[in-house]
Amino acid sequence: MSTSGRTRILGIGSYGPERVVNNNQLSNTVETSDEWIRTRTGIQERRFASDEQATSDLSLEAAKKAMEDAKVLPEEIDLVLVATITPDMAFPSTACILQHKLGLNKVACFDLEAACSGFLYALDVADAMISSGRYSKALVVGAEKMSSIMDWEDRTTCVLFGDGAGAAVLSRDGDGPELLGFYCGADGSNPSLLCQPGGGSALPASADTITGRKHFLKMNGREIFKSAVRVMESSCRKLLDQHNIAIEDINHIIPHQANMRIVESLSQRLNVPLGKFYCNLDRFGNTSAASIPLALSEAVHSQRIKPNDLCLLVAFGAGLTWSSTLVRF
Ligand code: UT7
Repeated sequence: MSTSGRTRILGIGSYGPERVVNNNQLSNTVETSDEWIRTRTGIQERRFASDEQATSDLSLEAAKKAMEDAKVLPEEIDLVLVATITPDMAFPSTACILQHKLGLNKVACFDLEAACSGFLYALDVADAMISSGRYSKALVVGAEKMSSIMDWEDRTTCVLFGDGAGAAVLSRDGDGPELLGFYCGADGSNPSLLCQPGGGSALPASADTITGRKHFLKMNGREIFKSAVRVMESSCRKLLDQHNIAIEDINHIIPHQANMRIVESLSQRLNVPLGKFYCNLDRFGNTSAASIPLALSEAVHSQRIKPNDLCLLVAFGAGLTWSSTLVRF
């Protein structure tokens, strides 16, 4: 039973949709090649949800596994947070839809939008809400159906992303890895670097937004790449400094799974061997808010992370947003 007074991860689970599409298959419909995608990103394949599956359905599968892993009953959950940029619809929240699909009580539910940093932002928010004493067991999900906002005529983006979900149950009552610390930041000065321009209040849906392909994800890859490396490094250092922890004491780093070249640069800049980074982007591509919980769940359930290991999670995404979290197993 928890004695430290810190929020713990009681259980974690993930879900990857059944349909696997490798680079060669993609190159049948997109002007690209397995060689380009592999060498520029490290991605080999990704998973795509079926037409019938919405983000809440992906969330449902991951949430069921996390709740089973945590050995908690639906009636024990009193808070649901879903981090996503591909909600089932603009409103109501995917968290509300998930609450019903899971058969939970009429507990507080909301979505959190911080793009690829969303899951780590949601851990910070859930920890604060649990620490207030007003909530006991939170279900925190990172889930995306990125294929629903991909522009299949834009080869610079459509080869990069995939669908998936990861979920964790958090509480101060019970056993599990401890959340030691959080750091979140953002820079909203240049939103167009990575965005979905159409469909919001700035540019409501119209015939023009559809013909102008404004409902798809747009990204300035080169600029995002440069910011990602710089900001992920500083985000790691800030959190470690706050907690007086040396980078050498970190056993595992779970980075946002966008591009293997970003991970390699981060490894060099932090002077941490690549072997300490857990990566599954070769099999999932970039799943945005689902990326960290998917990777963390795999790392935990494959027994790669041992008791007492110190784990640093670090994310970066549209906004721009960034976030890092320290977990003691
Ligand atoms: O999750 C949020 C965070 N997102 C990221 O972190 C993504 C960050 N950015 C990246 O990962 C990289 O910038 C990309 C993978 C998106 C692009 O890699 P790059 O090395 O920066 O390539 P580039 O954009 O400079 O393009 C190089 C060339 C271009 O041709 P030219 O102009 O040199 O003739 C592109 O037209 O590669 C071409 N190209 C492609 N060729 C084959 C771009 N996309 C493709 C493609 N297949 N899919």
